[in-house]
Amino acid sequence: MCGIVGYVGDGEAARFLLEGLTKLEYRGYDSAGIAVFDGEKIRVEKSVGRLAELKEKLGDNIPVGTMGIGHTRWATHGRPSDLNSHPHTDCAGDFVVVHNGIIENYLALKEELIKKGHKFLSETDTEVLPHLLEEFYDGDFEAAVREVLRRIEGSYSIVFMSRNDPGKLICSKQDNPLVIGLGKGENFIASDIPAIIAHTRRTYILSDGEMAVVTKVGVAIMNYAGVPVRKKVFEVNWNAEAAEKGGFEHFMLKEIHEQPKAVRATLSGRIEKDGSAVVLEELSWDKAFLNDVRKIFIVACGTAYHAGLVGKYYIENMARISVECDIASEFRYRSPIIDEHTLTIVVSQSGETIDTLAALKEAKRLGSKTLAVTNVVGSSIAREADQVVYTWAGPEIAVASTKAYTTQLIVMLLLGLYMAQIRDSLPKERIEELVNGLKEIPTQISRTLEDVDPIKTFARRYGFNEHVFFIGRSLDYDVALEGSLKLKEISYIHAEAYAAGELKHGTLALIVDSLPVIAIATQKSVYEKTLSNIKEVKARDAVVIGIASDTDTELEKYVDHVIKVPETDEMLIPLLAVVPLQLLAYYAAITRGCDVDKPRNLAKSVTVE
Ligand code: G6P
Repeated sequence: MCGIVGYVGDGEAARFLLEGLTKLEYRGYDSAGIAVFDGEKIRVEKSVGRLAELKEKLGDNIPVGTMGIGHTRWATHGRPSDLNSHPHTDCAGDFVVVHNGIIENYLALKEELIKKGHKFLSETDTEVLPHLLEEFYDGDFEAAVREVLRRIEGSYSIVFMSRNDPGKLICSKQDNPLVIGLGKGENFIASDIPAIIAHTRRTYILSDGEMAVVTKVGVAIMNYAGVPVRKKVFEVNWNAEAAEKGGFEHFMLKEIHEQPKAVRATLSGRIEKDGSAVVLEELSWDKAFLNDVRKIFIVACGTAYHAGLVGKYYIENMARISVECDIASEFRYRSPIIDEHTLTIVVSQSGETIDTLAALKEAKRLGSKTLAVTNVVGSSIAREADQVVYTWAGPEIAVASTKAYTTQLIVMLLLGLYMAQIRDSLPKERIEELVNGLKEIPTQISRTLEDVDPIKTFARRYGFNEHVFFIGRSLDYDVALEGSLKLKEISYIHAEAYAAGELKHGTLALIVDSLPVIAIATQKSVYEKTLSNIKEVKARDAVVIGIASDTDTELEKYVDHVIKVPETDEMLIPLLAVVPLQLLAYYAAITRGCDVDKPRNLAKSVTVE
């Protein structure tokens, strides 16, 4: 997500901070800032936009000093702006903080701090951190930081700097990466290795719940109780380019592996602590409107459209509202029937896709209420829609969308449950069952990612076929559509997804000896029917790779190979079933020598009609 850097030594801090942040630019950001201690006071400089804009603002007036912190922000709480950019300070300007992640209990903390007289300047969750520090500081910087860390909930990597404690930076992390680079007479902090690799390859990788006190001569690592932790030095042996990808060969593979973390971020703060319900604080429609919605349109393009199809299933099943899912470029020209009881949900990773934006404007013009599901705070779609639910997947760089899709599915499910709660259309026990199932999903995705060898083998064996079919019923069909899109966009294999029951109405004529068919069979309610369709293609000598849950012992009797994913509720299993399909597409593209991250003719964000 955002980028963090820190420096303490004898050199010019600002030089390292700006250079380090440049190395993190590939991650995507919307504003940047640095804070440098000049021996007396802390100077903070920040700017919305690219680093070039910050550098232009500074001109020759670069902050002077040998200790500092810096940040590139990718907006979550509050739109991109100078004020919302990091570093953030306390009231007196004695403490500065940079932070990645989300402080879940920031609202309660902010209220408490405001009551005590603290003045806030930004809309961010981060700003509570320097104010808390100001509140707890009584001369002992480390003790005050420990107290702050005890009070906050959520996911974070943070660097704290104090005017009263020259030459000392303190950092900590929970669920977000943070590394300390070990130099000679100087030490570095960064959220990612590329920022420090030009200076040192000797690092400490911080673990969750650890805190480090970094000076120019040493690094002391301890837990939140102050008990020292012994750490081994990790020697980085990647080159700078590999470091950007976190050691993965491609951004797409990195992003596939980021899905557990991304899903955790999407769920963060949106589930009641006792697991009884969904909370979507960002939605402020009155219950009367949501109770009265008679029709929902979900409108999107590409992968986001496929997430919308799953959303249609969720919302219809849970909230019992009729939903139509439309391709954005079709929706706006088909004269949709819309009135004041209509809600239009647009889904877009980038928030900039022109077809989706135009469809959103058209829905508004026709009198619909609108909701955006997007990954980019302050994007055109986020600004245009009446309300927004962010996916918080972090920047997605590969053209082929992966973590954006899974997090969009999570938001769709949360929306379905949220509306069901309001409309009283789902028993409480069923809501609890789904919410508890959701909590397990990040770990289950991690398990799915552990066993890639069979997938690599299939990709090698079938990667040179020119045609592949994907089949499934119900939610499995929606996942089949996404699996087939992934395969065609990055491996250029002709892939088609069909509702398994529809094969016999034409497509079966194309099924020939040795043709690969990927059959997704995770939906218990249509399992027997899917099995019959699988038998139809097997009877024409297709080679079938089945996707099933790990409790399934039946499918392997009818197909050539089975890939298993952890058992979960059939509503949730698309979140797991899509993962092997993403990997299959990835390894097929590798087998064929394709440029995975930048497939031919395609763009990440399509801003033309
Ligand atoms: C492009 C991308 C796809 C993406 C689609 C919609 O075609 O290559 O990966 O699914 O746009 O993008 P959005 O940003 O609106 O989700």
